[in-house]
Amino acid sequence: MPTRCLTIDPQLPDPSVIAEAAAILRRGGIVAFPTETVYGLGANALDGAAVRRIFAAKGRPANNPVIVHVTSSDAARQLAAEWPAPAERLAAQFWPGPLTMVVKKQPHVPDEVTAGGATVAIRCPQHPIARALIDAAGVPLAAPSANASNRISATTAKHVLRTLDGRIDLVLDGGPAGGGLESTVVDVSVNPPRVLRPGLISADALSAALDMTVRTAEHAVVERGAAPSPGMLARHYAPLIPLEICPRGVERAQELSASGQRVALVTHLPVAHSLPSVQVAILSNDPAGYASRLYQTLYELESSGIERIVVVTPPQSAEWAAIHDRLRRASA
Ligand code: TXA
Ligand code: MG
Repeated sequence: MPTRCLTIDPQLPDPSVIAEAAAILRRGGIVAFPTETVYGLGANALDGAAVRRIFAAKGRPANNPVIVHVTSSDAARQLAAEWPAPAERLAAQFWPGPLTMVVKKQPHVPDEVTAGGATVAIRCPQHPIARALIDAAGVPLAAPSANASNRISATTAKHVLRTLDGRIDLVLDGGPAGGGLESTVVDVSVNPPRVLRPGLISADALSAALDMTVRTAEHAVVERGAAPSPGMLARHYAPLIPLEICPRGVERAQELSASGQRVALVTHLPVAHSLPSVQVAILSNDPAGYASRLYQTLYELESSGIERIVVVTPPQSAEWAAIHDRLRRASA
């Protein structure tokens, strides 16, 4: 059966639509909804069987824990066995918003959520639909990105259905998810805290808020020789078509196209001359604007018969770090 999709205003979500979605969640169902980063696939985080349905729908390996979504730091603390000072500070500064914090978990947080681990990842989203849904459900919502495992995160309801149609109970279509990249994940159960997944809130911003150096995922991999978060596995956010990142992307796209392949060029720069037979997607040259369109663009290219994607290397400055991270994974 195809998944039902209900359109809902992202600013003023209709309470009757929210109530319907919340009822499904309370019965143990799974519902996709927009957040300010990407679409999430929600289930009652306190109901292990409901959370297992998320894993089944996504084809997600059981050893990859999911993020729990709440609407206040008080609600977050009820899931945490310890709430260290950095968690308090970061919550005050960045919640609600695209920041996920890993803390030691309370015993009542099911193993399905944490993949059997001793920590739980918690985020307090800012999107009005996400907040209304969590409040109406009356429980914290476990929600990974709403896409089949190993695929690009969905930033529109249409792209949720591209990989999950018929596998989930409902999609709330509140238009494009604004941010376009997944939240920053920071582990505050260790001291100093460590970024496990870069996102739109930079490690520098976290360091400034805490008055200490927050280490990044790259440091952690070098020091431990292992990825501390399953989401850091190299190939995790992948389009179906081969993607490469290239400083001289225009030339590379032309070369591939001359060899007879259908090529798309994704760039943050204006393209000076016309490129016959290359499909060109020009994204913003500011990182927030670029991020908000990236996944959507890749999904669109996937369904347009393109065989190769060439991405012009974005600027190297710190604000582009999360974008570089996702592009690297998409090209791995
Ligand atoms: O923006 C986002 O974070 C979106 C929206 C829906 O909130 N969610 C999202 O979830 O991207 P997901 O499941 O696709 O990514 C969650 C990441 C994974 O890299 C996972 O390994 C990591 O968070 N994670 C979850 N729980 C963890 C834990 N206890 N310790 C370490 N990493 C954890
Ligand atoms: Mg994901």
